[in-house]
Amino acid sequence: MLYERAVRPVLFRVGRGDPETAHEKTLGWLSGIGRQPWLLKALTKVNQVKDPCRLFGLDFPNVVGLAAGMDKNGVAVQTWSALGFGFMEIGTVTWRPQPGNPRPRLYRLPTSKALINRMGFNNEGAQALARRLGSGVKPPIPVGISLGKSKSTPLEQAADDYVASFVELYRFADYFAVNVSSPNTPGLRNLQDAEGLSTILRALRDQNTRLAGGGPGRPILVKIAPDLTETAISQALEVCLAHGVSGIIATNTTLGRDGVVSVDRERAAQPGGLSGGPLRNIALPVVSFVQRETGGRLPVVGVGGITEPRHAAELIDAGASLVQLYTGFVYSGPKLVRRSAKAARQALQARQTPRPYPHGPQGGGHYG
Ligand SMILES: Cc1cc2nc3c(=O)[nH]c(=O)nc-3n(C[C@H](O)[C@H](O)[C@H](O)COP(=O)(O)O)c2cc1C
Repeated sequence: MLYERAVRPVLFRVGRGDPETAHEKTLGWLSGIGRQPWLLKALTKVNQVKDPCRLFGLDFPNVVGLAAGMDKNGVAVQTWSALGFGFMEIGTVTWRPQPGNPRPRLYRLPTSKALINRMGFNNEGAQALARRLGSGVKPPIPVGISLGKSKSTPLEQAADDYVASFVELYRFADYFAVNVSSPNTPGLRNLQDAEGLSTILRALRDQNTRLAGGGPGRPILVKIAPDLTETAISQALEVCLAHGVSGIIATNTTLGRDGVVSVDRERAAQPGGLSGGPLRNIALPVVSFVQRETGGRLPVVGVGGITEPRHAAELIDAGASLVQLYTGFVYSGPKLVRRSAKAARQALQARQTPRPYPHGPQGGGHYG
């Protein structure tokens, strides 16, 4: 309530209502909070949900993570756990620093609890991220790093770009996410086809084996778009299984506009990826489909449209083992994270209770 009644109205007026200015200022504040141990402690006391699970060989304090794109340059990594998140995915980072698309490029659709963005991977580059992460202490929750392709790198050389960032950031990542699903880098989504994806995953696996020095290496997850046909998803999953991918993140933003409420329609004409409320009905079937297709062999991180705690539970019911959110956090703040973690826990407990029939939904991964 405090966030929705007092904090959000202020944030939404920052920068004369420009969402990206509000975003930048908020990240600056969150970064500042990260340097104040007493504040972190106080926030942690209010927000932390301890409901541990183990997946990909990592320990998660709870199953609700910060989705990629919120903290592209890793400026607030010390703060996300104090806001209740059980893990974070920073980036998407590209090998070369790049400014992204011209502003304005981020729009609010408040009645639909949605956002449209065409940021275009604005980020300071993998080397700057490595310097920043190297200068701080390791955060208390798992850190995923989302990798993307620099705009100036031709699609045929995409693998080199992903590999360069992977090597640079290897020691800072608990897992990597291969982002081939942003709608805002020309041609990127073509890398979800079998040939493009195989080339990237093969190159990353080689480096993972080399850098792990005989160990298991870092879990590598692939993030997919919600706008793929079932055939295209099946093909991508086959490639992922063949290349030892650890899990699937489903989904990124959609190019569709279904589900946007009528007062937001005019703004919905802005080009870019739609996230938040309307995405839920598109992401949820993708999570179910991935779960069914892989029979639980590839754990799913469900993301898209969590604007109420029960939506986190619905993603778990559909087969997700972890969930992430971005847009809901903008509209509802840390309370949504806390409550989603509790709702997800109940859904997971229900899933783990032995069922009277042998072929009930199992979900991926192992919980301890
Ligand atoms: C402004 C904005 C920027 C985003 N940037 C990225 C990104 O860099 N990499 C990525 O994988 N996803 C990015 N996303 C997508 C989110 O990670 C997430 O998949 C999507 O927003 C759906 O979740 P939500 O409905 O909870 O927001 C971005 C989303 C928004 C709203």
